[in-house]
Formats: sequence, structure tokens, C-alpha cells
Amino acid sequence: GDGVLLHEDEAAENGSQSLPQAIIIGVKKAGTRALLEALRQHPLVRALGAEAHFFDRHYGRGLHWYRSLMPKSLPGQLTMEKTPSYFVTREAPGRIWAMAGTRTKLLVVVRDPVTRAVSDYAQTLAKRPCGTPPFEALAFRNGSGAVQIGWSAVRIGLYARHLERWLRLFPRHRLLFVSGERLIADPAAELARAQTFLGIPQLVTTQHFYFDSAKGFPCLRRGAGGRPHCLGKSKGRPHPRVPPEALQRLREFYRPFNLKFYQMAGHDFGWD
Ligand code: A3P
Repeated sequence: GDGVLLHEDEAAENGSQSLPQAIIIGVKKAGTRALLEALRQHPLVRALGAEAHFFDRHYGRGLHWYRSLMPKSLPGQLTMEKTPSYFVTREAPGRIWAMAGTRTKLLVVVRDPVTRAVSDYAQTLAKRPCGTPPFEALAFRNGSGAVQIGWSAVRIGLYARHLERWLRLFPRHRLLFVSGERLIADPAAELARAQTFLGIPQLVTTQHFYFDSAKGFPCLRRGAGGRPHCLGKSKGRPHPRVPPEALQRLREFYRPFNLKFYQMAGHDFGWD
């Protein structure tokens, strides 16, 4: 509403740039944009819209460069960014630790790794419609049927493996796992968890969301007078058809990794 607008203007005029106190570190194609856009409705959240890619691609540019990307904020406001590739970047945990020790709050949106892999593949198809082999050809080695863990669409879904590296440096309570499935089915509930984790009042609530039947997803209602806002066409794409046997094989492949991940995260996400 008007309060939010006032806050934003004030921050733009009198604020200063801070390094992020909270980062959405992953996972690609799990709903990271939806989470960030919803959190941005909160008057105490100031977020960079674009992906910074500082802790993976641009680390050499230094923390001054990183901070210079951030929107201005007022005392009490949280600065945030999201770059989903951090979660799978070997160096990222150590680099974020070097910035602020264990103080940074880390949010990870996770989604059934099988669906996530298909979503990732759908993105590849959208970018390169000609010459992209079928999903099964990329996911399995010819003949043997062994899963190609070297294919990034498969590897990113090995959540337990990636999480291990973060937990070597960060205590588990510094990480929040947001269910990508629940972010669609009940966005306000996942936002409530995120606001509790961030230590900010519950101001993004059911009133901020409506189900848009044309989009087929929840969209944001931006206060009184604000225009409704759905995410762009690249979010909520139709998925290509993949043979059910291939999906089943992949599901079996992921099961032990998922079970390990549920243990580490302290929550069963119900993908199996
Ligand atoms: P699909 O395009 O496969 O459906 P990311 O932002 O991390 O790339 O994640 C993209 C995914 O966010 C989409 O994958 C979609 O399922 C999911 N998503 C969650 N909430 C959404 C929303 N409100 N609108 C659109 N997509 C949403």
C-alpha cells in the first residue's frame, strides 16, 4: 500500500547501500524468483532484482563492487539478493562465510529434483529449440541406462551433496528450506516461514496473493491501487513430454539422495 511506497522513496533518498544480510542461494528452477518477488513486497526488504552472480562469476571484483549493486536501504531494512547458482558452486560457502562469518541468512528453495530437471531442460529447449537432444538422451548413458550425473540438470538435484558443503561452515539454523511445491500451493504459508526466519513482521500475507487462472499460478496483488503482477513467461513454462519410464528411473536414482537431504534439512519434502 502507500506505506510501502513511502518507505521505498525514503530509502532511495536517505538510505545507503549495504551488503546483503540474507541471500536466496538456490535452487535453479525451484521457484527462486517467486520467493524473491514476494519478499520484495515487504517494507523491510530491499532486494536487488537482477542476479548478482558475485560469489560464483564475479568474486574477483570485490565486496565494494558487490555492495555497489545493492539498492539503498534504511536502518532496520534487510538487503537481499538471489543467485540460484550459489547453491551448487563449490567456492560459494567459503566466500559468503568470508563476508560476514555465519551471520548471513541463507534461503534455499527446493523442488522435486525430477520435476526440477525437466524444468531445467525445458529452459534449455526454450533457449535452443533446434539440435537439443531428447531429455532421455541427456539424462542416461546410451545402452547402460546409467544416470549421467555430469549433466547439470541432473547434478543440481543432488541436494544432499551440495548441502554438505554449506553445513561444513554454516549451522543449520542459518538455512531456511522453502518448498517450491508449497510456494505454488500455499504461497502465504511459505512466506510466513520466510518472514519468521528473517525476523521481520508478518506483513506479506494471503492478501498479497491471488490465483491467476490465465497464468495458472499465484500472482501478486500490489496493495491498494497497485496493478496485479504475475511472473514472466519463462516462469511456469509448459514442460516437454518425457517418457514415464525415464522419469521413474530418475525418481529411483534420486531417492537415496532425497532421503539423506530430508534428514539433513530436518524435513520430509514428500517427493518420494
Ligand atoms: P516451471 O517454469 O518449470 O513451471 P526459478 O525462478 O527458480 O527459475 O523457478 C521457476 C519455477 O518457479 C517455475 O518452474 C514455476 O513452477 C515456479 N513458480 C513458483 N511460484 C510461481 C509463480 N507464482 N509464478 C510462476 N512460477 C512459479
